[in-house]
Amino acid sequence: MTPKIELHLHLEGAAPPAFIRGLAAEKKIDLTGVFDARGHYAFRDFGHFLQVYEAATEVLQTPDDYRRLTRAVLEQSAENGVIYTEAFLSPDFCGGRDLAAWRDYLAAIREGAAEVPEVEMRGIVTCIRHFGPDSARQTALCAAETAGDFVTGFGMGGNEAIGSQGDFAWAFDCAREAGLGLTTHAGEFGGPESVRQALDDLRVTRIGHGVRAIEDDALVDRLAEDGIVLEVCPGSNVVLGLYPDIRRHPIERLRARGVALTVSTDDPPFFHTTMEAEYAALNAAFDWDESLFADIARTAAQAAFCDATTRQRLLDRLDA
Ligand code: ADE
Ligand code: ZN
Repeated sequence: MTPKIELHLHLEGAAPPAFIRGLAAEKKIDLTGVFDARGHYAFRDFGHFLQVYEAATEVLQTPDDYRRLTRAVLEQSAENGVIYTEAFLSPDFCGGRDLAAWRDYLAAIREGAAEVPEVEMRGIVTCIRHFGPDSARQTALCAAETAGDFVTGFGMGGNEAIGSQGDFAWAFDCAREAGLGLTTHAGEFGGPESVRQALDDLRVTRIGHGVRAIEDDALVDRLAEDGIVLEVCPGSNVVLGLYPDIRRHPIERLRARGVALTVSTDDPPFFHTTMEAEYAALNAAFDWDESLFADIARTAAQAAFCDATTRQRLLDRLDA
């Protein structure tokens, strides 16, 4: 199996439905509306997706729940040949942005990660855009206080329709000063201008999605020239309705224009996908072959928020 590197994975969004149902049963929590009749996560559109996502996270109430979640998620990554993953971690859901609580959750997440040695994991602490800039500041402080060998990045997800990237500049500056790598969701539901704002106002080196940059030629050139790396999640974009099918997805056009890109799953069970399924779909739609997938993995290793020793170890494993 091709060794893979995944840079864009929301920890809660990767929770297998059976895992969430199991915790709900243990805790007697009613999850009506979260799943459809077949047991899949059920949502109509992006706004509803975010609501269902947050409803499902209500069963995750203790550090040990997060230890078990991390283990379950990484076991799936390992089955897909993932050797390194960066997961978005949310102090909002892990102790309500309280630093002492966040430290406990983080320790438990690291324990869960250590239980799956096949996959090396790093955490990108993530603020949630629709929770607003004040929450983002508190989240950034949690990130800065715990920055180190495991928490290596800071990012932002959530509803791109609310506010602007620049509203969160304080949080990103705080994270940058703590030495964290920076990424933000942009060019998913926001157009190309949201990608420009991410570059100008938050000075990120990676963009979560970023695919709608394709609507602006000069921006595509800028991404290519500046080596900005896109964390592209094709299956997510199709299920959330950005593109009618993968053939219409701009990933191949962005690649042909010289934009550095990587492939991830975002929230795999929500989008009925896995890393293997993403690779298979790209092969079927665009004839991407093993050598191109090897390039993608090397780009991901180069863009990973990790230290030089780890990066070299990843590159050596990819070349082996
Ligand atoms: N949170 C989880 N998945 C997300 C996505 N695809 N976009 C924005 N926020 C998210
Ligand atoms: Zn995402």
